[in-house]
Amino acid sequence: MLQKKDLVGLIDVTKAELTELLDVAAEMKVHLKAGEKNLSYLKGKTATILFYENSTRTRTSFELAAKYLGATVINIAAGSSSVAKGETLVDTGKTLDAQLNDFLIMRHPMGGAPYLLGKTVKASVLNAGDGMNEHPTQGLLDMLTMRETFGTLQGLKVAILGDIKHSRVAKSNLFGLKTMGADVYMYAPETLIPKGIDKLGAKLCKSKEEAIDNADVVMGLRIQLERQQAGNFPSLDEYAHFYGVTAKDLKRAKPNAIVMHPGPVNRGVELTGKVIDHDQSRIEEQVFSGIAVRMAALKLLNDYRNAKGVTNV
Ligand code: CP
Repeated sequence: MLQKKDLVGLIDVTKAELTELLDVAAEMKVHLKAGEKNLSYLKGKTATILFYENSTRTRTSFELAAKYLGATVINIAAGSSSVAKGETLVDTGKTLDAQLNDFLIMRHPMGGAPYLLGKTVKASVLNAGDGMNEHPTQGLLDMLTMRETFGTLQGLKVAILGDIKHSRVAKSNLFGLKTMGADVYMYAPETLIPKGIDKLGAKLCKSKEEAIDNADVVMGLRIQLERQQAGNFPSLDEYAHFYGVTAKDLKRAKPNAIVMHPGPVNRGVELTGKVIDHDQSRIEEQVFSGIAVRMAALKLLNDYRNAKGVTNV
């Protein structure tokens, strides 16, 4: 059983816990495909969604996941909350705890913010992305999508290309995939590779070919325009030429390889339009996996709360 009050990162999630999360997510997909969107695992529970950064996929899928499990869901946009009046994160957490929330789902620009919140509140905190640190449910939905395609994560070659340095998605994938026995290859301009990532288990590549050759999974990561303005690479065209994935590049991967991207995608930069819309692309399946994984995370954290008698009442 998941032995945690909070899900704030994959760095400390065990293989058994990851396997359980993925297994329960697979069961949730079966429910969703059968049109069962009125489950009762979280009946009587409240989830508050607190996003200090923009989102399309993560925010909506957490909201759908909590609602499909029967929870009452509240959305707080940080810009319209008392955060805008200077309330601290800890005080915001205490306020939400006093309102008897069971789950706080938070995206925050500062790495570590969900860890701080989790230590402050009795509610379970789910990290929906913290700065450049982690995005655990994105890592899980990526792993679920891969496991469904290949039946296992053990021994897969996963090539990740793009802005590794600023990517919380890359880090959660690296931690989760390494624990599950996959090999993670990374390729990016040197300015977009974080120092020490190889010590965490990533295999750094010297060329796009080295990364993609014989890969099972080719994953692009979003390039942020402000990174170019900061001088991390000369131009988007040049980036697309040297680091973007084309249909020709994809031919170097295994014949049954899949293409992934956490979104939002810059069409023609990280991946060409042809690759995004390719029959080997799993980008839309990733979005569907996102709801199932978030349902699984909420259910298993709730099971832990019930088993340990954790309550905010
Ligand atoms: N993948 C991801 O986190 O997308 P959003 O920013 O739209 O949530």
